Amino acid sequence: MSGGAGYIGSHTVIRLVAAGHDVVVVDSFANSKPAVVGRIESLIGGELEVHAFDLTDKDKTEHLLASMPFDAVIHFAGLKAVGESVEQPLEYYENNLESTFSLVRAMRRHGCGLLVFSSSATVYGPDAPLPYREDYEPLVATNPYGRTKVMIEHVLRDVAHIDESFKVALLRYFNPVGAHPSGTIGEDPQGIPNNLLPFVAQVAVGRREKLAVFGGDYPTADGTCERDYIHVEDLAAGHVAALTALAASPERVRTWNLGTGTPTSVLEVIAAFERASGRPIPYEIVGRRAGDLAQTWADASRAADELGWRATKSIDDMCADAWRWQSQNPLGYPDA
Ligand code: NAD
Ligand code: WQD
Repeated sequence: MSGGAGYIGSHTVIRLVAAGHDVVVVDSFANSKPAVVGRIESLIGGELEVHAFDLTDKDKTEHLLASMPFDAVIHFAGLKAVGESVEQPLEYYENNLESTFSLVRAMRRHGCGLLVFSSSATVYGPDAPLPYREDYEPLVATNPYGRTKVMIEHVLRDVAHIDESFKVALLRYFNPVGAHPSGTIGEDPQGIPNNLLPFVAQVAVGRREKLAVFGGDYPTADGTCERDYIHVEDLAAGHVAALTALAASPERVRTWNLGTGTPTSVLEVIAAFERASGRPIPYEIVGRRAGDLAQTWADASRAADELGWRATKSIDDMCADAWRWQSQNPLGYPDA
């Protein structure tokens, strides 16, 4: 697994081990801390093999793939901050594309033919009809981060097209939130959080004074944007299901939305977090954030039909688990 020390990867390791898989992690720790490894090990009750290197290093990637037989790779590694990608486009293209090239080259050379890739609902772009369906085209992202996802989807399709021993699952996540129910692993953004849930959690725990709600004049029921928030535990279970389905699939490219199919507004998230934490979340409605769409949510029926997977957790569950993580680890993972 690449990026296994990150937010979604760390939760997915636990699910994979529980399902009987042996997991090896590669992570550069560019956006995560080594302390997560011990937390994962406590939850799985054993050691986790972790290789700390950057996947853009072709020699190290090649060496690892040559060192033991891998049945499959789940590729979470990538930089993901939309605003930062606008400021640093080359770093985003280089990191996200080069790491994928290096990984796919080494996989093919060493006979590993199953790849599960972390794509994003952002590939649907501003014009796709709601709810988003996997067969929509053309994919058009509106920022460099999103364009790396669109480009990588095309690259992986092209490789699967010419290589009959290579199969790929493109998983388009909606808005992953929440944490492991133990409260020992969760989302640990560095600096000021870009995303809604971690910001709300930091307001609740007293690290930030109030939330700025970006726009109150959208054409939605309460005027704030609506998103398809999905519990990271449900998402992790979706990867296990996708891996099994891909291995059995006669088709070489499969695309699945991983969302709940239900939109929730910013004000509804605030209310749910207040219920979960028992604390007020002071907020102020400010101007819209550039690039935000009024509403996005998944048509989750293909994953239900083909994977037998559906999200099970409510927005209240998501907030309760995010709060348990945030209140037990107000400053996130320790540095050492
Ligand atoms: P994350 O930043 O917590 O995890 C990504 C991990 O990859 C980090 O631990 C980072 O150190 C590592 N990494 C980055 N570049 C690397 C490289 N070149 N070599 C080795 N390791 C590298 O992010 P996440 O939220 O867990 O997201 C995982 C994946 O899912 C990403 O590809 C992201 O774009 C995608 N995704 C995330 C969201 C979301 O909102 N969290 C939504 C849709 C898609
Ligand atoms: C959710 C809602 C904001 C922060 C992003 C990426 C997307 C995907 C998931 C990776 C929006 C509002 C937010 C705040 C706010 N990532 N908000 N105040 O923008 O739907 O998706 O993460 O693939 O590509 O763009 O998620 O959590 O940033 O925002 O009012 O301080 O909360 O306007 O309506 P988004 P988000």
